[in-house]
Amino acid sequence: MVVSAHPLASAAGIEVIKQGGNAIDAAVAVGFALAVVLPDAGNIGGGGFIVHRSAAGDVQAIDYREMAPGGASHDMYLDSAGNVSDRSLTGHLASGVPGSVAGMYEAWKRHGSLPWATLLAPAIRLAQSHRIDAERSGEISSDSDRLVLFAGSRQQFLPGGHAPPPGTLWKQSDLAHTLQLISDSGPDVFYHGQIADLIVAEMQRGHGLITKDDLRRYRPKWRTPIQLSYRGYTIYSMPPASSGGVTMGEILNIMEGYDTLPAFGTPAYEHLLTEAMRRAFIDRNQWLGDPDFVNMPLERLLSKSYAAELRGQIDPQRATPTPPQTATGGEGMHTTHYSIVDASGNAASVTTTLNNGFGSAVTVTGAGFLLNDEMDDFAAVPGKPNMYGLVQGEANAIAPGKRMLSAMTPSIVVDRDGQLLMVVGTPGGPTIITTVAQVILDVLDQGMTLADAVAAPRIHHQALPDVIRYERGGLSEATVAALRGMGHQIEMRRGTSGIVAAIQRTPAGWVGVPDPRYAGGAVGW
Ligand code: DON
Repeated sequence: MVVSAHPLASAAGIEVIKQGGNAIDAAVAVGFALAVVLPDAGNIGGGGFIVHRSAAGDVQAIDYREMAPGGASHDMYLDSAGNVSDRSLTGHLASGVPGSVAGMYEAWKRHGSLPWATLLAPAIRLAQSHRIDAERSGEISSDSDRLVLFAGSRQQFLPGGHAPPPGTLWKQSDLAHTLQLISDSGPDVFYHGQIADLIVAEMQRGHGLITKDDLRRYRPKWRTPIQLSYRGYTIYSMPPASSGGVTMGEILNIMEGYDTLPAFGTPAYEHLLTEAMRRAFIDRNQWLGDPDFVNMPLERLLSKSYAAELRGQIDPQRATPTPPQTATGGEGMHTTHYSIVDASGNAASVTTTLNNGFGSAVTVTGAGFLLNDEMDDFAAVPGKPNMYGLVQGEANAIAPGKRMLSAMTPSIVVDRDGQLLMVVGTPGGPTIITTVAQVILDVLDQGMTLADAVAAPRIHHQALPDVIRYERGGLSEATVAALRGMGHQIEMRRGTSGIVAAIQRTPAGWVGVPDPRYAGGAVGW
């Protein structure tokens, strides 16, 4: 079963599984296919995380998050007046050193079973030509004011001056060539060879920082997953450099202490959930960063006794204000998650991103792929909000070679008998953490089917800004009024919260659920 945000990418995964491939083979095929058919988020110029569980129950995580270039510095996005520029978001200076190609190769080296070239074949075919659909054409159009700024992006995404219209055959010949090189030579050509040269030439064209040395030094890292227990279930998720597993763990640990929970959608339930989210994000924003650079009190943050302490501070009747600081921000939907379970029961939970839609908007000229704007996930100014309104501290300040803190939360849930139960994840910036937490809580506590849990309305609170955001129609007017009465600021968000791609084991078999909020695809075989 493969569930991703694009039906053609899910089909690429199944194509590989039909040839005898396992979950990691399929994950690599889907990852490269997404770089072609979902270029706003799928990528080879970005990074991501995989949580993998073998059928035998061995769980490992791989971190292929981008790293700050060697020339990066603490205050690189401040102008002489001390104001933050938008160069962490658009243009050559926004990119961290990409990790996707190295990460997928490393995952394949350890767990893959089919030849590497077999896994790239569907992506190469799609890059040579595929029919672009209305969503993708629309995404390109709506970001065309950024894409038009860079020659490589104009050529790649705006042939003839506009996005390829829905239904036309879209040929990405530079990208097809790049993928063929990666198919032939693996990551060497990307980090040392011809593609590295094109990346560095692009950097020189736009005064970016990434050098041949930065590319040569990039390494994906195997990490020990965060392991959580929740009412007898076991949940595996991503450790730092993502904040996902730790922050979700704090939320779940706080919720676990309530023996009986108020009903879904009631003010009492949404209040407790909000207060748990608030406290988890306060810790996230203060403590978490790249484990190679900062010491984090993870054991304490994830202990049940610490959760009990935090729970004890929650007033069941009143909101606890977060200490005030200015913070703004919304979330786009430009990361992507996919979930895979193969016939033997191996599972892969993968979230990957360029950060913003179309990343930095810079396409590497001659190579046909976009570079990320992941540098904005650092705290450009500790104490001031980033694009997502996250107010973070020195733990996530910029330093050369450091990984910027992520919120991506690829997760796997194992039931009380030790059987794989769910594979789940989503895009959505900081809402990733609260979305994955809510889908898990809705299945485990509320008794929803996975399809209902994915469809169910979601709320989000991230400590700062101190506001609950809910989806249109997601809470009744009475609940909204009651939450206001308890002292919460609450507003309806623009758009939706997350694009979940999840799989659940049921007595009838594996059930794949793409989010009804978006045109994704589940393909089983
Ligand atoms: O790693 C992170 O947390 C962000 N770069 C994710 C960005 C994202 O999810 C944007 N779209 N929804």
